Amino acid sequence: MAKKPRIVYCCQKCGAQRPKWEGRCNDCGAWDSFIEETFQEQNLSQKTQGWAIDKKDADKKGSPSSSSTNLTPLNEKFEDLKVDRYTTGFKELDRVLGGGLVAGSFTLLGGAPGVGKSTLLMQMAGGLAQNNHSVIYISGEESVGQSGSRAQRLGVSESLVQIGSENDLVKILDTAKKRRPQVLIIDSIQTVFLPELNSTPGTVSQIRECAGHLMSLAKSENISVVLIGHITKDGQIAGPKVLEHIVDTVLSFDGDVNYGFRLLRTLKNRFGATHELGVFQMDSEGLNEVMNPSEMFLEERGESLIGSAVFASIEGSRPLLCEVQALSNSTPMAMPRRTVLGTDVNRLHLLIAVLSRHLNLSLNSSDVFINVAGGLKLIEPAVDLAVAAALISSENYKQIKSKMVFFGEIGLTGEVRGVSSVDIRVRESDKLGFDEFVIPHANKKHLKNFELPEGKKIHWLKHIKHLPELL
Ligand code: TYD
Ligand code: MG
Repeated sequence: MAKKPRIVYCCQKCGAQRPKWEGRCNDCGAWDSFIEETFQEQNLSQKTQGWAIDKKDADKKGSPSSSSTNLTPLNEKFEDLKVDRYTTGFKELDRVLGGGLVAGSFTLLGGAPGVGKSTLLMQMAGGLAQNNHSVIYISGEESVGQSGSRAQRLGVSESLVQIGSENDLVKILDTAKKRRPQVLIIDSIQTVFLPELNSTPGTVSQIRECAGHLMSLAKSENISVVLIGHITKDGQIAGPKVLEHIVDTVLSFDGDVNYGFRLLRTLKNRFGATHELGVFQMDSEGLNEVMNPSEMFLEERGESLIGSAVFASIEGSRPLLCEVQALSNSTPMAMPRRTVLGTDVNRLHLLIAVLSRHLNLSLNSSDVFINVAGGLKLIEPAVDLAVAAALISSENYKQIKSKMVFFGEIGLTGEVRGVSSVDIRVRESDKLGFDEFVIPHANKKHLKNFELPEGKKIHWLKHIKHLPELL
């Protein structure tokens, strides 16, 4: 006899379940996150069916007993795991994925609305098809006509890419099993649903169950599944964290909608390094990859360089040069403003205190504005030195040399602390024609084997008090 559906309240942030509605989730602390969802016992039976299949498979492989786990001692020889990778047509995307899309992998691409997720994956589908990989692109948001005309506008017209418009996951799974494409793209996980669950698409239970089914599809049929996931106001991928735990790779696609460029990052990757960064530019023909982003971010650097310092940052394994601007202006207000775009405001407070103590640079009656040009967001503390240089330059009305580049973290006692990947930063700066590098003294040992080209100079900095001499 079919059991009566059970009503539970499910936290949309962490997936916690309660018999009664609660205002605040005790598990994750989110407010007003509980939504009423219906659970049908049927789900459970489905899950057990899935289990049964797994066990049958195990039996086939000749496991000693289907009720225990096979164990292997570590002194046995293990072969190097080789994964098949598909070339996506975008070098940047391939690199971010760790060398191409892995066969049978499960990938999630998150991003704010309108950032270009559908465009990226449609172009990726085209690129995969040109490399002879079959792709099915299912959109739960757009009709076949809409997706199709967009694809052709983007120049994707390969017969190996087939598109469909569907929200019912059972039908999608069925199609994938019959057609057996190498890659299945689903746009988006929030719009597909399992009819047997009574909750609406996009709720935690739907997302969790759908993701579970897609995961087993990817692994059992060796189909690479790529999901699009929406992002909530606070920048999280909508739905529970479980989604991020299930998938092999989490990519995030962001960028200021006011600027043409888009940044693709890896947040998690079971098949490659994380924190990789790919840079794309959106124009009327879709997304183009930017092979030398440093040039792009420095392109509009002005003539007057008061308050403008160049920072050599590292995004994943790749160096990225960008311009840090500072402006300080005296104010009659008792509480001067500290406004920061692109870095951390707390680090600015800290820096202002350090500059005031160690350089007698008083900003008590000045508004301070910091801006990272181009809408980039920097999280590295290594940006400190560039911010300090830009601030000192702005406060003293002194230009910074146009070919000088900075990086280094500043501590509370005014010491300049070493940072990682020094040689990569210096090489990139050198490549772009910079000839003076201001670098933490602590990093000297890391550059022992680096041969500095003729005419270029490194300033090793131990303490912030030596910085003004260089400017
Ligand atoms: P889209 O891929 O639909 O975003 P998402 O799927 O992340 O919501 O892209 C939407 C934006 O991209 C839209 O505002 C218009 C812009 N765009 C271009 O500028 N050029 C193009 O060729 C395309 C297809 C879109
Ligand atoms: Mg879209």
